[in-house]
Amino acid sequence: MTPTLNLTINGVPQQIALDDPRATLLDVLRERIGLTGTKKGCDRGQCGACTVLIDGRRMNSCLALALSHDGAEITTVEGLADGDQLHPVQAAFIAHDGFQCGYCTPGQIMSAVGLIAEGEAGLDPERVREGMSGNLCRCAAYAGITEAVLDATR
Ligand code: FES
Repeated sequence: MTPTLNLTINGVPQQIALDDPRATLLDVLRERIGLTGTKKGCDRGQCGACTVLIDGRRMNSCLALALSHDGAEITTVEGLADGDQLHPVQAAFIAHDGFQCGYCTPGQIMSAVGLIAEGEAGLDPERVREGMSGNLCRCAAYAGITEAVLDATR
């Protein structure tokens, strides 16, 4: 029998028949739901490009077995903006040039949103760098990323 996965993705309840019970949340989001903002980089938990929020906690979706999160609330980068109004973290990334090629940016932004939501009052540059260390940027836009995260907490 094909298992059915129930997820609320960016506020929208979804029922997904899973042909492959081994599917990762990353593959479900990209290939079944069509939310390709979440990127596949390494597909093995090393780059952070696939970061999403699962019940408010940031996680590498390439390491998340989709079925093990049945009933969860998932937030992807597509769910951050409110209409034309960017999320403050998105706006801060633009203001501080927190990207170059942009491939890692959705994961960086989701990780930043999660880091800030973890209640990190008084984030300083060192804590931001440590908290964002699971998100790699091959263009090395780290200075702008750190500034963006700090700005979004102000
Ligand atoms: Fe998931 Fe790299 S694609 S950590």
